[in-house]
Amino acid sequence: MIKPPLHPLTLDGRDASNLRGDPITGDRYTSRDFMQREWDHMWTRIWHVAGRTAELEEPGDYVVHDFMKESVICVRQDDGSIRAFYNACGHRGQRLAWNAASVTEGFQCPYHGWLWGKDGVLRAAQDPEDFPQGNPCGKLKLKELRCDVWGGMVWYTMDPDAPALADYLAPIPEIYAHYPMDTAVRVFWMKINLNTNWKFATDNFSESYHTRTAHPQVPPWIDQDVDTARHEMYPGGHGRTVQPMRPSLSDRLPEGVPHPFDSILRQWDIDPGSFPDYETKAMQGWLDLKAAKRRLWQERGYVHYEHMDDEEITDSPHTVIFPNVTISFLPDNLIFFRTEPHPEDPDKCTFDLWCMAFPVKGQRVVESIMAGPQPLREAELEVRDFDNGRGVPEIDGQIVFQDMMLAEGQQRGMYSRGYSDAYLSAQETRVRFFHEVLNDYLEGRR
Ligand code: FES
Ligand SMILES: [Fe+2]
Repeated sequence: MIKPPLHPLTLDGRDASNLRGDPITGDRYTSRDFMQREWDHMWTRIWHVAGRTAELEEPGDYVVHDFMKESVICVRQDDGSIRAFYNACGHRGQRLAWNAASVTEGFQCPYHGWLWGKDGVLRAAQDPEDFPQGNPCGKLKLKELRCDVWGGMVWYTMDPDAPALADYLAPIPEIYAHYPMDTAVRVFWMKINLNTNWKFATDNFSESYHTRTAHPQVPPWIDQDVDTARHEMYPGGHGRTVQPMRPSLSDRLPEGVPHPFDSILRQWDIDPGSFPDYETKAMQGWLDLKAAKRRLWQERGYVHYEHMDDEEITDSPHTVIFPNVTISFLPDNLIFFRTEPHPEDPDKCTFDLWCMAFPVKGQRVVESIMAGPQPLREAELEVRDFDNGRGVPEIDGQIVFQDMMLAEGQQRGMYSRGYSDAYLSAQETRVRFFHEVLNDYLEGRR
């Protein structure tokens, strides 16, 4: 197999000599002062995901993104573009919209009835001639933010001087150009209130060192051996771990237990019994799988494979976008994870879980990876309290559920006088990298 060349921006994500060594102290997770500094210097300067372009099909369709105490509306325009406005009326500040929906005339304020067009310009007001400073209609405009689109998602930034979205994300859009992200269907959509600091998720998704302990069901399916993974990080703070989706050689299921890799091989007409031993099945089977997918994708309707390379067609680049978005790219799925801070409490966050699938012709039910089999259709949002797992029975036992079960205990540890800094393995280098990029924002280096 030909290895794809590394993007020139790539830093070795297993090499701590790329780092300064800033300590990852507990107060970063527990202090209100630190939380305020994150708002002042980081959250107000990065690009946020407001929603998906699939939610904004027609002019007037809009999404509302609440972030801590701020709120932003992104709305599809008549010319097909998308614009973002702060969700506060230009009269006396009332919130204009609470949930995603669609408008025709525009946004009518529930307080004194002012009507703001989709373009943010005030169209109508009661008693327009009663304003000594002049009729506000056609003159006042909602405060606008920069808005852009990547990966089938709508992004905005509160910072007028932020880099362009493509530069902010670099090199992620280039690296994932082969995935038809716009056509993915969100088959599972949940927002979960979780009792931990938002950074738990970025830390967690920046390493796979926890997988053997926390997710023992994974190694037979995604190779967890330390030297077969590729760890990459990029100057913007993003990073990824690329692991082959084949059984790890160092941990095996007992004889006689059905092996998940066997059913994957069978699905692509490869007989798992045709290999002389386990090692050959794992290594040669994985190469045969690539070849079979190349041969059969078209007739089986896997149109999303058309531009994927040999790595993408079978492997799993698990990707963190600084500071709080993780996307797991799988051959047939995208999984979007995001944590966002509670408006006041550093011990709490919301955890967004979107399972998306690339549609395959004739398929009615898809494997969502994090939430089991799901019908192939756009899902409705469910909002839940995690409640030590009791609030989300649908995902009980799934990988992401196992991560969430660890979240509260991790947050408790951050309060302990016994904890002062992490003692990281090389394969966890990206955890400290994340904190150093965060410090760059907080300390004025970015
Ligand atoms: S605050 Fe919106 S119309 Fe008065
Ligand atoms: Fe995990």
